Formats: sequence, C-alpha cells, structure tokens
Amino acid sequence: MIINKVEKLSSQPMFFQLEKHFGLNNLFLKIEGLNIAGSIKIKTALSLIDQLEREGVSPSKNKIIESSSGNLGIALSIVCKSRGYTFTCVTDPNTSPYSERLMRIYGANILKVSQKDKQGGYLETRISLIEEMIKKNKNLIWTNQYSSFANPLIHYEETAREILNQFAKVDYLFIGAGTTGTLVGCAEHVKKFSPQTQVVAVDSAGSVTFGGQPLPRFIPGLGTSKKPPICDTKNVDEIVVIKESDAVQMCHFMLNKYGLFLGGSSGSVLQAVKKKKNIPKDACVVAISPDFGEKYIDTVYNPIWVKEKFNMEI
Ligand SMILES: Cc1ncc(COP(=O)(O)O)c(C=O)c1O
Repeated sequence: MIINKVEKLSSQPMFFQLEKHFGLNNLFLKIEGLNIAGSIKIKTALSLIDQLEREGVSPSKNKIIESSSGNLGIALSIVCKSRGYTFTCVTDPNTSPYSERLMRIYGANILKVSQKDKQGGYLETRISLIEEMIKKNKNLIWTNQYSSFANPLIHYEETAREILNQFAKVDYLFIGAGTTGTLVGCAEHVKKFSPQTQVVAVDSAGSVTFGGQPLPRFIPGLGTSKKPPICDTKNVDEIVVIKESDAVQMCHFMLNKYGLFLGGSSGSVLQAVKKKKNIPKDACVVAISPDFGEKYIDTVYNPIWVKEKFNMEI
C-alpha cells in the first residue's frame, strides 16, 4: 500500500490469539497500537479532523484545541502537524511525561490543569478551560471527542467492520469505555450486522460513566469524572467494572506469560474477560487492546508507583 500522509501509517488489522486462557479456546486481542500514534486514537483523531474539514475548518483560518490525558493528544498532534494546524492539548497530572514530550515534539502546545473537579477528576476542569478559550477566540476549534458523532462513527465504520471481517462468528466483544466512542460505534455496528454478539463494556472503578460513584483513578484511558454526551448503552449487553489494581496485575501477567507489553486499559479489558462468568469454552471472544505499554513504564510497570498507588508488590 502506498500512502502520502504520516497519519495513515499503520498495520493491517491484527489479532493476537491467547492460548487457552481463562478456560477459553478462542480468545483474541484486537491490537490497535500498531500505527504511527501508537493507539486506537489515531482513528478518532482522523475522523474528528476530517469532519471539521468537511464543515469548512482549515489550517489557514483555524487552530485546534482538545482535552486529552494522552492518546488522543498524541494522535491529534500528529494529524495537526501533518496538515498544518496549530494544536493545543489540555492535559492533567495523570498524563504521562512521555505522552507530553511526544506531543511537544509534534509541535503541540500543552496546557496542564491542576485543579480537581467536584468528582475528584480533572475532566470538568479541562473542559471548562476549553469552553472559556473558545468563547474568547472564534478561530479556535474544539474537536470535542466527548460530543462529536465523528468519534463513534469511525469505530462503526472501521473498528467493528475489521472485527466482523476477521471472524465467521463473534460471540462476545469486550470494549473499554473512555469517551465511549469505541464502545458506542462498535456496539451499533455489531448489533446491526451480528446481533447474536454479546457486547460487554469495560469501565474503571471510580468512573461515573455508567452511574458509579466517583473515586480517584490514576491510569488514563478508561473512565470519566463526567458522563460523556455520546455515551449510549442501548446496544450494550453488560457492563463490567474493573479495579485499576487488577488491571495492573493483568498487564504484568500478560508481559510474563506472552511477552506482550500492554497498556493499562488492555489489562482492564482482559480482567473483564476473566471476571465474566459462563462464557462457553469454545465461544469466539474478541477484546480490544487500545495501546501498548511504553507510555506506562513510569506507572503500571514501575514497582515503586504501583506500591505507592495500590499498596501492591509486582
Ligand atoms: C489507552 C486507552 N484505552 C481506552 C480508551 C477509551 O477509548 P474511547 O475514548 O473510544 O472510549 C482510550 C481513550 O483515550 C485510551 O487512550
């Protein structure tokens, strides 16, 4: 395949088969970390910017702003650099130094909020700052991953299609929920074209997305401190909530067993597969892995951090 935009650099859809794991004979991880941005968020970034450009946004008139604790910020930094936009990313203390450095390398301006919102997270603070800034500057455009239909749309059109193209039949699909773009888009596609597939949403303990009580969370990716406007559970069969400490344990298990160096949310999604009762052993089970572990070397893969946050030895 010949391409002429860096944001298009990615692998073919790739599925990693886990050997007879959790009593399951056919468990596959859909690997989304093999692209130029290193995460599933390159799809979202492209979809958000393409949609704005269809509405008339252009690098000569507009600057882009977004709230992200990591992956979307990296992906948008790349797309904006490639297309000539100035990009500002509003981050928070949970953003890894690696992600921040990468965004800066791609030319992004970083604004880091430090004040927690009512829920004890940072999302509302990040969004309030953006709302203030776009009021003052009409040329500043917010991609708004939490509200834009372009976020779930790309997962409806690409991510879910890639899964259904690979397998004759999918019995269970496990999807982590952050903005819920991956979940809502995939769930809608799957229920339309493969209605027998059970869609399982995976959230972090302490997230309010599906009505849980707010608690401090430390691993970016899953969970929110404010329910995203695009969140819709009509095509979701079950919601499984995973403690971050269990996600960390699963990440280490996968590293030791397979040499597979996964990001924190992949650990949560696999814990949800393990936790879910009564999956027949020959069922075809697919779980989406949004990224690899390199952004988490100072956290999930750092014994001192793990001890400090979860009082746990790894
Ligand atoms: C590592 C990781 N996992 C999961 C998600 C959740 O994806 P979504 O925002 O589509 O719900 C994100 C979103 O940023 C992420 O960065």
